[in-house]
Formats: sequence, structure tokens, C-alpha cells
Amino acid sequence: MNKLIIANWKMHYGPVKAGAWIRAFRRERLPKEVDIGVAVPHVSLAAARASLGRAGVPFLGAQDVFWKEEGSYTGEVSPGMLKEFSSTFCLVGHSERRRHLGETDDMVAKKAAALQEAGISPVICVGETSAERKAGKAKSAVKKQVTAALKKGAVAGGKAPMIIAYEPIWAVGSGKACPPDEAKAMHDVIRGVLAKKFSKKAADETRVLYGGSIDRQTVMSYMTTTGVDGVLVGGASLDPREFGLLCRTAVPA
Ligand code: PGA
Repeated sequence: MNKLIIANWKMHYGPVKAGAWIRAFRRERLPKEVDIGVAVPHVSLAAARASLGRAGVPFLGAQDVFWKEEGSYTGEVSPGMLKEFSSTFCLVGHSERRRHLGETDDMVAKKAAALQEAGISPVICVGETSAERKAGKAKSAVKKQVTAALKKGAVAGGKAPMIIAYEPIWAVGSGKACPPDEAKAMHDVIRGVLAKKFSKKAADETRVLYGGSIDRQTVMSYMTTTGVDGVLVGGASLDPREFGLLCRTAVPA
């Protein structure tokens, strides 16, 4: 299985700038050994999809979803709507949504299950706070989040395999990444939860990504760490040329 690099634009780039980013990114030479995804704001899905083109293009994804397919949920977007843009994945439970929008473990679990139902891979984001880490509770905090995210029917494997992104909150946007060996140790903890709930095989086959202050200088050390199946990149994905360079740097020469 190829390793995976996902760009998370967060709340950047409406349709005009999104189209320009994708067109610029299409000019980048991309390594065949990695899969590349771009998570864009809902309003930019159409423009991004229209600009994707064919060879060497990234997978398209969203950054959030609601768990119902249709109904009186003003302002929300359903998995089926994301599917109309051929979205193949969607982030759920990003720490910024948990913090600023009150997203709970229960909501994350419902979103993950609804996405799989629609054939879209949920990218379930988990990670401890700095206080939890300092108190020696990082592993238990992450275990709890992963366990909770699996409570509403999301499964490892299947036609829209779940992806877990370990993103320690203190590392997101801080310029202070979690060292690869420590990220790997947490990935092992995450796989342990998956193995217990599903099977060792399903756990081994589930991609677990690291995210938090990844840049072109550090990306290769994560991509070459066993048990780290790729990275989620925020700030360093905003410039298409820089992100192209990051994707090339991710693969050993
Ligand atoms: P960052 O963000 O790379 O800017 O730290 C990562 C993320 O939030 O997914």
C-alpha cells in the first residue's frame, strides 16, 4: 500500500483560489510511490474537482460532514453531497473543530459511520493536549478518542477504509512536531485499539497518518518510519509549489 500525503487547507481558498491552486499543482512532478489527497472547504469542492485533470492528480476530500443524508439541518452538508464531487475521503474530528465548534467524540463516531455508508473514507483525527501529555496521559487520551470514534458502526477495512490521523494538539500549527519515534509509538497504541475491536489484520491494513507541523525538512523522517503510513499537512500545503516539493522530498531518492 502506498503511503499517503493529505493537504489540509483548513479555512483557506474559496473556489477561485482553489482552482488556481489545483492548476498550479498539476504542473508539479509528483512521485508515483505516494498517494496524494487534498482536503478543501466545501464551497471549493466543485472548482477543485473541475481543475483536477487526469494523470498524477490528487484525491479530493472534504474537511467535515454531517451524519444525516438529508433533512432540516440548516447549513450542513451530507455524505451524499460530498459524493457528488467524487470525494474519496473526508476529515472528521479535527482538533480545530473539536475546540472551536464543539465537535464531540459522539459526533465524530456518527460522521465516520455515515461517511463509510456512503463509500467515503473517514480520516478520523485524534490527538492529546499538551496538558495530557505533560501529565503522562497522552496514550490513554488517544485510546479513548479512537475507541469512541468506533462506537457508531465505523469499521476498519471495507470499501471505504477508515484512516486515522494522529495529530497531537500541541503540534498542530505550532512549528513543534512530535518526533517520528514518538509518533510511531502512538500509532502502535492506535493499532492496538483497532486490533482489539476488529482484527490484527484489519489494524495492520489501516493507514495511520501523522499530522502536526510537518514541513519539507521533516517529511521524509516520518514517511520512512515503519508504522507511519503518511502525513497530514496543514500550513505547508498552502503553496502548491512548496507542497509539490514536499511530496517529492517525502520519497527517498
Ligand atoms: P499543520 O496542520 O501542518 O499546520 O500543523 C496540520 C493539520 O491541522 O492537519
